[in-house]
Amino acid sequence: MISIALMGASGRMGSAINRYILQCDSIRINQAIVRRSNRYFEQLLDNTSVICRESLTPNSDVVVDFTGPEMTMANLKFCQEHHMAMVIGTTGLSEQDIIQIHKASADIAIVFAANTSVAVNLTYLLASLAAKVMPDADVEIIEAHHHHKKDAPSGTALAIGQHIVETKKQALDDVAVYSRHGNDCLRQQGDIGFSTIRGGDIAGEHTAMFIGEGERVEITQRAITRDTFAQGAVKAAEWVAQQKPGLYGMLDVLGLKSLEAFIKSKQ
Ligand SMILES: NC(=O)c1ccc[n+]([C@@H]2O[C@H](COP(=O)([O-])OP(=O)(O)OC[C@H]3O[C@@H](n4cnc5c(N)ncnc54)[C@H](OP(=O)(O)O)[C@@H]3O)[C@@H](O)[C@H]2O)c1
Repeated sequence: MISIALMGASGRMGSAINRYILQCDSIRINQAIVRRSNRYFEQLLDNTSVICRESLTPNSDVVVDFTGPEMTMANLKFCQEHHMAMVIGTTGLSEQDIIQIHKASADIAIVFAANTSVAVNLTYLLASLAAKVMPDADVEIIEAHHHHKKDAPSGTALAIGQHIVETKKQALDDVAVYSRHGNDCLRQQGDIGFSTIRGGDIAGEHTAMFIGEGERVEITQRAITRDTFAQGAVKAAEWVAQQKPGLYGMLDVLGLKSLEAFIKSKQ
């Protein structure tokens, strides 16, 4: 039985992960962490006998963290010191934070995934394939999320862009266009345009368009509920508990990493 420390247990993702784990036999939550100011502090996590605490202790197999950058980076340090595996789903991390995650992965196994949905990770793979087959197509990435989301474009939209540029041997900073407004927005060959929609309770939608002359391919994933991210996060936690130190993504968890490497390496 794998034991999980659930960070941000009262949050939207924390709650969805708890609901999903309640249906699983091979994994259980033995720590739930919230802020002292949170209404769940020292209360029972829903439908469990786990009391929500403020501080993490080193007696879980895996720390599952969908919180905010500040908390995630504090947890990373703790996990590195205590050799605990991690699933990091928090988005909006800085470049410096990501460097720290890379460094920590020398000591502990980490699944770092801006999106833990199985379908989104299939979208990454399909986007890499489309970039290989249609290298001259104009690429546009559109994402939509609920009105609480702070960061834009979403980590997933950026990850789709990253998979495309890796296939095309480019750097995202050189080709990404994050806004268009005014009279001087002519598309340059090779640009990857990002568009953002925010509203209501949209759980998360991403479309990568590969637009050629006379035809286009659109790869779309739509999450209807957060449960899909929760299921992927639990799958990642079960997988990372068995891994050696290293930095992994959901394609590793799903056994698709070598297929992507093959697509990217093909001439
Ligand atoms: N990888 C994926 O597939 C995926 C999917 C969905 C969301 N996400 C990402 O996961 C993160 C959480 O999303 P969400 O929708 O669950 O947000 P949320 O509902 O706001 O929940 C965040 C939770 O983290 C806690 N938290 C945040 N910063 C903290 C800190 N410094 N100290 C202690 N607790 C802290 C919050 O506590 P309080 O309530 O006390 O503030 C809350 O319980 C975001 O970065 C989001 O973009 C990733």
